Amino acid sequence: MAFQNGFLWGGAIAANQVEGGLHEGGKGLSVADVAKYKPLVDVKDYRAHNAISLEQIEEAIHGEDEWYPKRRGIDFYHHYKEDIALFAEMGFKALRISIAWSRLFPRGEEELPCQEGVKYYLSVFEELKKYGIEPIVTLSHYEMPLDLALKYNGWTSRKMIDYFLNFVFSCFSNFGEYVKYWLNFNEIDSIIRHPFTSGGIIPELCENGNVRQCAYQAAHHQFLASAYAKMLMEKLFPDAKMGCMLTKLTTYPRTCAPEDVAATQQMNLENLFYSDVMVFGEYPKLMLQRLKNEGIEIKMCEQDAEILKDGTVDFVSFSYYMSRTESVDPKMERVPGNTIVGVKNPYLESSAWGWQIDPVGLRISLIELYDRYHLPLMVVENGMGAKDVVEENGHINDRYRIDYFKEHFLEMEKAIDMGVEILGYTSWAPIDLISASTNQMSKRYGFIYVDQDDEGNGTLKRLKKDSFYWYRDVIKSNGKSLHEQE
Ligand code: BG6
Repeated sequence: MAFQNGFLWGGAIAANQVEGGLHEGGKGLSVADVAKYKPLVDVKDYRAHNAISLEQIEEAIHGEDEWYPKRRGIDFYHHYKEDIALFAEMGFKALRISIAWSRLFPRGEEELPCQEGVKYYLSVFEELKKYGIEPIVTLSHYEMPLDLALKYNGWTSRKMIDYFLNFVFSCFSNFGEYVKYWLNFNEIDSIIRHPFTSGGIIPELCENGNVRQCAYQAAHHQFLASAYAKMLMEKLFPDAKMGCMLTKLTTYPRTCAPEDVAATQQMNLENLFYSDVMVFGEYPKLMLQRLKNEGIEIKMCEQDAEILKDGTVDFVSFSYYMSRTESVDPKMERVPGNTIVGVKNPYLESSAWGWQIDPVGLRISLIELYDRYHLPLMVVENGMGAKDVVEENGHINDRYRIDYFKEHFLEMEKAIDMGVEILGYTSWAPIDLISASTNQMSKRYGFIYVDQDDEGNGTLKRLKKDSFYWYRDVIKSNGKSLHEQE
């Protein structure tokens, strides 16, 4: 069976990790713009990278741009034509982008969007259209206006729904004619792992310092905002589709000891809780009980149940980088992953950042999600952060990246053969960009190399890696080249 005709092969980027241009077009500071590069922190210690206090935010507001790499990104703001041309050269059918909320609404509370921001995104959409590249647009990818975080403790406040919907309305009315696929919140489940980045939650502003209470309340507001956004989209553009977006952290028990299996089951239920709400339009009973047992009480209004039911999503999208392993044995060695720490799986290799590479886990995830939700799926992030070496003649041999993708694509193909419906695949990321968790540039994901180091030095020149040509062939043959002898 393999990949269907019209399979959306492409790549995924996020505004806050590529655009730069902080001081242009009237853009305001977002939560991403205060994420500091910390060279001396263990890069695998994501907690140290994500920790934030009011003092650090204050320091950032007045701080030098050079310490805040997401303010410069890879200067996609000025290079988007060149970059989109390169994506087109690879044959991209789709590009996943996000719209920076603070580029349209610098402080978040304005009534009308900033016209320069609108103009910029219109030119990006026009450029994509020129090459027949389908945009897949994330409404919220870790980039809420900083002012909303400071003033309301972000998504903890129900007020956020109105501000967000004003932004969403502006996205739909200005860009709706270009966009068929919208995604609501990037990795919505991540709010519990990095509440500031995902929800603008500042620990000091949480009552009794109870960040978990704030994070689940914020998730509730995001669920409602997603449902409202879906209903609005349906009304304005009935042919468009809205998907939810999950970090798929498929977790295995380290042993078949029932206690390990039981602990693993809880982790998987927590991971699926977020998509359950957005697909089924209601909270899973077990999760509600679990929160209650933990003393967490989510404040809900009478109409919320109906809103969630009326605004369910059309498809499920997710990121998949690695699987996670769990054990109740505290002596087990633990290794880092995508903003998580898990038990080391002895059957898997790790990337240079310690994430355990598991292509079969992608197949398992696809089957699990399709079987659970009966909705089309989209893999909207998958890739490998690595240190690339540019040879003297400019050549970049990234065989390891090709191997990573090849193995994942073959597993995706197996899932399709088993009946899973996949609309498309966008790699993270088709071009090197600033890492979300570590703010490094040296953690490279792209098929395209960008000449810039962690401190922001470099020419910003774009270079094609070996994987560029390899991915181009995969897309051109709609996956058939995966079976050819290399
Ligand atoms: C995903 C995020 O979790 O992982 C991206 O949606 C992020 O924004 C990607 O860049 C890879 O993580 P990192 O920390 O290596 O950039």
